[in-house]
Amino acid sequence: MTAVTIDLALQRCIEPDCGARYGLNEQLYVCPRCDGLLEIENESNVAADAEALRRQWHSRLASPDERDGSGVWRYRELLPFSADAPIVSLAEGNTPLYDSPRAARYCGLNALKLKHQGCNPTGSFKDTGMTTAVTQARILGARTVVCASTGNTAASLAAYAARAGLKCAILVPRGQVSHAKLAQSLDYGGIVLEIDGNFDDAMRIIRELAEDESIYLVNSINPFRIEGQKTVAAELLQQCAWQVPDHVVVPGGNLGNSAAFGKGFKELFELGVIDRLPRLHVVQAEGAAPFAQLFARREQNSTVEYSSPTLTPVKHPQTLATAIKIGAPVSWKKALRAVTETGGRVSSVSEQEIADAKAIIGRDGIGCEPASATTVAGIKRLVNDGVIDRGEKVIAVLTGHLLKDTDYIIKYHQDSLYTQKRPGRPSSDIWNLTTRATTLKIGASTERMTDEAGIAVEDRPRSTNLCGSAIEVRVPASAGNLGAGFDCFGLALQLYLTVRVTVDPQSLQPFRMRSRGEGYGTSLSPTADNLIFRAMSFAAEKQGLTVPPISIDAQNEIPLGSGLGSSAAAIIAGITLSAALCDRELSNDLVLRYATELEGHSDNVAASLFGGFVVACTGQDGSVIAVRKYWPKDIKVIIVSPHTALETARARAALSPLVSHADAVHNVQRAALFTAALEGHHYDLLWEATRDRLHQERRESLVPGLADALATPRRPGLLGLALSGAGPSVIALAQDHFDELGMAIAECFHKHGINSTVRLLDVDEPGRQIKRL
Ligand code: F0G
Repeated sequence: MTAVTIDLALQRCIEPDCGARYGLNEQLYVCPRCDGLLEIENESNVAADAEALRRQWHSRLASPDERDGSGVWRYRELLPFSADAPIVSLAEGNTPLYDSPRAARYCGLNALKLKHQGCNPTGSFKDTGMTTAVTQARILGARTVVCASTGNTAASLAAYAARAGLKCAILVPRGQVSHAKLAQSLDYGGIVLEIDGNFDDAMRIIRELAEDESIYLVNSINPFRIEGQKTVAAELLQQCAWQVPDHVVVPGGNLGNSAAFGKGFKELFELGVIDRLPRLHVVQAEGAAPFAQLFARREQNSTVEYSSPTLTPVKHPQTLATAIKIGAPVSWKKALRAVTETGGRVSSVSEQEIADAKAIIGRDGIGCEPASATTVAGIKRLVNDGVIDRGEKVIAVLTGHLLKDTDYIIKYHQDSLYTQKRPGRPSSDIWNLTTRATTLKIGASTERMTDEAGIAVEDRPRSTNLCGSAIEVRVPASAGNLGAGFDCFGLALQLYLTVRVTVDPQSLQPFRMRSRGEGYGTSLSPTADNLIFRAMSFAAEKQGLTVPPISIDAQNEIPLGSGLGSSAAAIIAGITLSAALCDRELSNDLVLRYATELEGHSDNVAASLFGGFVVACTGQDGSVIAVRKYWPKDIKVIIVSPHTALETARARAALSPLVSHADAVHNVQRAALFTAALEGHHYDLLWEATRDRLHQERRESLVPGLADALATPRRPGLLGLALSGAGPSVIALAQDHFDELGMAIAECFHKHGINSTVRLLDVDEPGRQIKRL
């Protein structure tokens, strides 16, 4: 028995005040009356027999019928096509549902399943919607099919158009689509048109073009695309034996996919095929997150956003997950309805989180393209935030295949994930930004790298064949300790030491030096005592090498003797340069080990090397462990540096060799609390977490005004307050009221006749950077 018929299907405007209906064969993309989005409505009045449907879909798994070989057309009772529709299919769908134990552990879950839509014929989920959209193009008698795309829709359309014998033109943003996707479109015979602009511009242009009726637009604004894509919900649930998972998580770009999943789940629920709805969560990339921003505004209880929500487009969306680099998603209203109806959430994740999640998915032997990894990164956050419980059933939808963007992968593993122009620098000045978070375990005997989930990874290839050329290294400042995390917390700051070295084979001197900025005339002087040169020689000696004669040009923004890791930065710069100049690959493990040996402690050097917030620890066997942890983008750092240097040796000498059990416990508790507060976004706990009993009290008397500054009471905007490293700079963690906070702390020194410099800094993400010139 066929349980449902589709002969009463039609197109309906989704706007509640309009709801206009149109026939299936009217070539429309939005409602001609009100411009609202259209969706297919199945008005069938035939009572559904859910059990019969489930049986039928099951039996088709073994059927030789070509339609049943498609994971979309197998569920044709849900589709608005008649039995004799001229189907254009590539046996799409049929994608696996994998267990992903490492990713589960990474997210803090007992188990996690990944529905890999990247296993479709053209390597993305788009095929499931393209089969129905191009079938509809055939029904309408279209000659040319078009789309705007970030790459996957284009590749998919080109393939299905080729199958249907239709002309295909695609509009893509120039320079923003991976080569693999462009290559696919060309191979399938698509006409590729590049525009100077982004996806949203391309979308606008293509919609204008599609006003010509001879052209058929198949972006996800086309409701027939959504119909095909919604069947993935059925396939996924069938793979779960119709046991509804608690959460399904999808990436969000133009939001057609979110809308399709929502529609699929809802229709299956209404047909009685499932007895409840899973919560549908959408995850966007931080730099292209207009939908997440809208959701956040609604969460803040804005009644306006509830009654008539509006999406504010992101004008210049930015993300390396180019598939979802979209600032004005077309289907946001449908997606919002789906999320709201299922009790889901919309969130955004950073580039770092996407890259790390992607690497973890790869380590499960699965892999995906960057946009897909937003799901796992998002799930980790949702678990942290208590939205998802460790024991719940969770499915992440991977939307694209790993081979869609191999450049990204190679760069990630070369520690040069992407090139980015630094603000305020000439446009030709491109820096390699490292965004890989690592946990490094450097054993005395073994050198193994492990990632956040404790997974051993191979040491990555590095290219340091720089002999004879000029090399520049840039190293961030760092704040150590952060209160209770004595000798174990390091935070990299956007204040840099930049050192450029040129080999000078004719020179008789071992090195010549020019330095500018902070520290000129002190330890950055051109003597053999110079810390950069000392670190270079130290590392070269360890490696049995000799540094060739060189010219060093240092530009330093990091004040010396100020507790901001200027020596750690000089050491990291020196060790890095020595390896590069000697054409020797030196792993991060060794850089960290040598640097720690020279510096005496690992917190500052680890932060300077890796960037971000790093927990560093000396292992029992003398090994160094450094774990890069999450640092929230919205917590900024105010550094108040009194104009009086405090030599580290003096600050160290002030410490007591013995501490009480109670004081040690106090600090251990607070250091643990600090990381927990960050991970769980409990920023209100940072105040308590930065209270220290091991060193600040002993050091605060060394500089007039420091005790007062450290006793600054809790006030609006101030999350935490501590001595930066050995001092005398004071570090305040803040979310707002930056000016007032900086002034209040500076005033404490001023009262004692000491001027100070107040800096508002962001946390440095990439860590040490190397550039060939
Ligand atoms: N993941 C991948 C791999 C994608 O290619 C896209 C969208 C998405 C997620 C987001 O899905 O737009 O339905 O929210 N790619 C489109 C394209 C925009 O042109 O290929 P969405």
